[in-house]
Amino acid sequence: MTSERMAYTLRTMEAGDWDEVVALIRNSTNAWYESHGRPAIFTGPAEATRLFCEVYESLDPGCCMLAVEEGAGTIAGSCFYHPRPTHMSLGIMNVHPSHFGKGIARRLLRHITDLADAAGKPTRLVSSAMNLDSFSLYTRAGFVPRMTFQDMLLSVPAEGLPLEGVAGSERVREATAADLESIVALERELAHIERPGDHQSFLTNAAGIWHVSVIESEDGKAIDGFLVSVKHPGSTMLGPGVMRTQQDAAALIRCELNHHRGGCPVWLVPVEAGELVRELYGFGARNCELHVAQVRGQWQPPSGVVMPTFMPETM
Ligand SMILES: CC(C)(COP(=O)(O)OP(=O)(O)OC[C@H]1O[C@@H](n2cnc3c(N)ncnc32)[C@H](O)[C@@H]1OP(=O)(O)O)[C@@H](O)C(=O)NCCC(=O)NCCS
Repeated sequence: MTSERMAYTLRTMEAGDWDEVVALIRNSTNAWYESHGRPAIFTGPAEATRLFCEVYESLDPGCCMLAVEEGAGTIAGSCFYHPRPTHMSLGIMNVHPSHFGKGIARRLLRHITDLADAAGKPTRLVSSAMNLDSFSLYTRAGFVPRMTFQDMLLSVPAEGLPLEGVAGSERVREATAADLESIVALERELAHIERPGDHQSFLTNAAGIWHVSVIESEDGKAIDGFLVSVKHPGSTMLGPGVMRTQQDAAALIRCELNHHRGGCPVWLVPVEAGELVRELYGFGARNCELHVAQVRGQWQPPSGVVMPTFMPETM
């Protein structure tokens, strides 16, 4: 047994750990970005970061591993994960800055990839291309970068964005519970993953923070895309979303932005979706980061446009 293994024990997060985990997520992420000359990520009220525990635990109770310092009992690291019918998705991973570089993230990750391996499923995640510590944590563990996304953001005017002349926007409508099956089927067809529980929870919207739009096909008989968004002081994002075409993606993004009037949501689009990216610049969007989809195990490239998110972490 190495000294590192003697110093930390892995265990599942319990409700009494939430306050400490919330502080860990916020402090670890902000400290990492600030020490690399970038602004802090979590700038809202500290309490808002609780959203991660709330959303993740309601979707997947008991799916957060902690690394706890032996003796002191302090939480030195945490990682959420999301078992899905087709894959394992890795959620937010954090290590306390005073415990960086001691192999804690590697151990947490190994625990989760062992679970995925035992279930015979690939593990998927989205990591920042600007954070080589996490990028290489994953590639060293056998993950392969498969897709690159541009993070874009836009300040939405209080009066909203006009929809006149936005091709396809007339086919966009609010999703209803009856769309669940079509949403799940479209994601299975285009992105080759299934996560019905996530979509059910977005559509039910018990927390009052989600919104889902769909774009209907020309004949109105099917849907050709969907886009979810979250609006909360702890996370303001568009995604996840899947669309058959870049034009449908642009229409869905434009319409979904109008559910964030006065806000500044961020979203991720594949770097190679050139036509869509040009359209988004035309809306006034700007780039703010790059993310890489990494997969350990079986991978099939998606068709159409896929938009991952960090809330909940899905790819
Ligand atoms: C990223 C983070 C989780 C890493 O945690 P950590 O406990 O310090 O990482 P570890 O000590 O387990 O090291 C991970 C591995 O990456 C390797 N590594 C780090 N930087 C590397 C580089 N530039 N090139 C190659 N390997 C590198 C380490 O050597 C180690 O591999 P090894 O154990 O096989 O030697 C931590 O820095 C953190 O919490 N950052 C802030 C939040 C964040 O960025 N989270 C990730 C979002 S998904």
